[in-house]
Amino acid sequence: MIRTPLMTVMVQAVRKAGRSLIRDFGEVENLQVSLKGPANFVSNADRKAERILQDELTKARPSYGFIMEESGEVDGADESHRWIIDPLDGTTNFLHGIPLFCVSLALARDGVPVAGVIYNPVTDELFVAEKGAGAFMNDRRIRVAARRNLADAVVCCGLPHMGRGDFAQFGREYATIAPKVAGLRRTGTAALDLAWVAAGRFDAFWERGLSPWDMAAGIVLVREAGGYVSDLDGGDKMLAKGDIIVGNDTVRRDLLALVSKA
Ligand code: IPD
Repeated sequence: MIRTPLMTVMVQAVRKAGRSLIRDFGEVENLQVSLKGPANFVSNADRKAERILQDELTKARPSYGFIMEESGEVDGADESHRWIIDPLDGTTNFLHGIPLFCVSLALARDGVPVAGVIYNPVTDELFVAEKGAGAFMNDRRIRVAARRNLADAVVCCGLPHMGRGDFAQFGREYATIAPKVAGLRRTGTAALDLAWVAAGRFDAFWERGLSPWDMAAGIVLVREAGGYVSDLDGGDKMLAKGDIIVGNDTVRRDLLALVSKA
């Protein structure tokens, strides 16, 4: 585990937001049978968790700014530090009572993510990483998987969905990649996908059309777990471009070659 003052602040905030989400998730499970569904209730849960994070982090570091999924950007007196927050990544899963979602919190210094915490309150799995200090799940050090061949790899991806993304392009990527890997998965929570690559569960992950809060914490986790991260042109503009591909050096490189060919 990393016991720096920064990590203590981040972990406390994320756990508190996670407690709020888990209470609301219990309620969502009860609301599934209603015709209208729990949509409004879920956006309230999302906003509530974000407010908790913002309050806790402001108390601890009053001068830092924010980039938040729900409330947008807030400038701080300290122009070089910003929290990047997704209070509920995997909103659609949450809404449908699927217990696969997380809180994702990163700290960026001069635009570069340097610390990340991702928390799944259902499984109580806490993924943490700080630049130069390694990556951990709960108290255990984690590393990306060592498999060298795509044929042995379980690869995770994101899918275009209603009103978002290029379906034809994904179709080509699927047709190129699926026959060459051991398995292709889609969970519905990009932040957790990245944490699971860091933990060696998935060998690789790629997705287009993401927002900074979906990726920032996971980027630190994958790098600190010994993995490689790039955008889909092989550069490091993931946050600006919204696309990402991660894995160990060989698997990421070989998967990127397939994505580029598709
Ligand atoms: C979504 C999830 C999903 C990804 C979507 C994101 P949200 O985030 O990360 O896996 O495919 O593009 O928007 O909306 O649940 O915070």
